[in-house]
Amino acid sequence: MNPVLIIGCGDIGRRVAALERAQGVSVSGLARSRQAVQRLKTLGVRPIDGDLDRADSLRELPVGGALVYYFAPPPPTGQTDPRMAAFVAALGAADLPRRVVLISTTGVYGDCQGAWVTEDRPPHPQSDRARRRLSGENILRRWGDSHEVPVVILRVPGIYGPGRLPEQRLREGQPVLREQDAPYSNRIHADDLARACVAAARRGRPGAVYNVSDGHPTTMTDYFHRVADCLGLPRPPEITLAQARERLSAGMLSYLAESRRLDNHKMREELGLEPLYPDLASGLASCQQAQ
Ligand SMILES: NC(=O)c1ccc[n+]([C@@H]2O[C@H](COP(=O)([O-])OP(=O)(O)OC[C@H]3O[C@@H](n4cnc5c(N)ncnc54)[C@H](OP(=O)(O)O)[C@@H]3O)[C@@H](O)[C@H]2O)c1
Repeated sequence: MNPVLIIGCGDIGRRVAALERAQGVSVSGLARSRQAVQRLKTLGVRPIDGDLDRADSLRELPVGGALVYYFAPPPPTGQTDPRMAAFVAALGAADLPRRVVLISTTGVYGDCQGAWVTEDRPPHPQSDRARRRLSGENILRRWGDSHEVPVVILRVPGIYGPGRLPEQRLREGQPVLREQDAPYSNRIHADDLARACVAAARRGRPGAVYNVSDGHPTTMTDYFHRVADCLGLPRPPEITLAQARERLSAGMLSYLAESRRLDNHKMREELGLEPLYPDLASGLASCQQAQ
């Protein structure tokens, strides 16, 4: 019996590991480098050598009977998620996990022109980044259906928290869109996301999708202004959409092309999760205290 296995044991994985360990559960985590092995050991997490980009390294995953948290991102290019494909291919029919909780992204909804978005909205990814995430969801969902293993999918927007603020960008004085052109953006504090993962493992309905957000979207410009205030840095200069097309990176522009407001009722009602940080004011205050 292997109680918890975390595939992609980075920042959120380590927070989830701490929550599980606090409940007396033993935790293993996939590690693809010596550094990662060391980091997991110091946290009391058993490192399992393996790299999702090397299918042959996944033969010995201690997955039978385990609760699996899958937090690894897809590779940086392409439209599919070969890492997820390699993971499910490595799971023998005799050694099935008891449940898989996946972190995906709200990018799979595509642009919603500022509308409120529930989990019933059909995915309509508009960037390859989002297409890869939807591919990962679909591969895992199909595998779960055919092996009768419950799969729970969490769709997650921007993660922030102590040590996870765009400080570098603000120090460089990079511009933001002026408020009237700025899309809505949604956030979740890293600690609340970790709590949502643990709640999904215990209370998530098999096959369900949950938006995980604090429920208080504001514009992306508002976010950068408030973070600047929190860090005691100058607010970034504002530019028009036309100027942004000339000055901002393609990656940043693809985020600015999508606007939606996430409805988090299902998370609160079915997972019983009330965010500890329901808005930026409370979440950024926690970042200040941690400094
Ligand atoms: N940043 C955001 O605002 C945001 C928003 C929505 C969703 N997400 C997603 O949420 C998930 C959790 O986020 P996070 O902050 O915990 O991410 P993170 O700290 O970057 O952790 C991701 C982990 O995945 C591991 N990984 C990557 N490729 C791997 C491979 N080929 N084989 C084995 N392990 C591999 C990484 O290992 P190494 O340490 O060896 O690199 C890392 O430990 C990620 O999928 C992230 O993309 C992020």
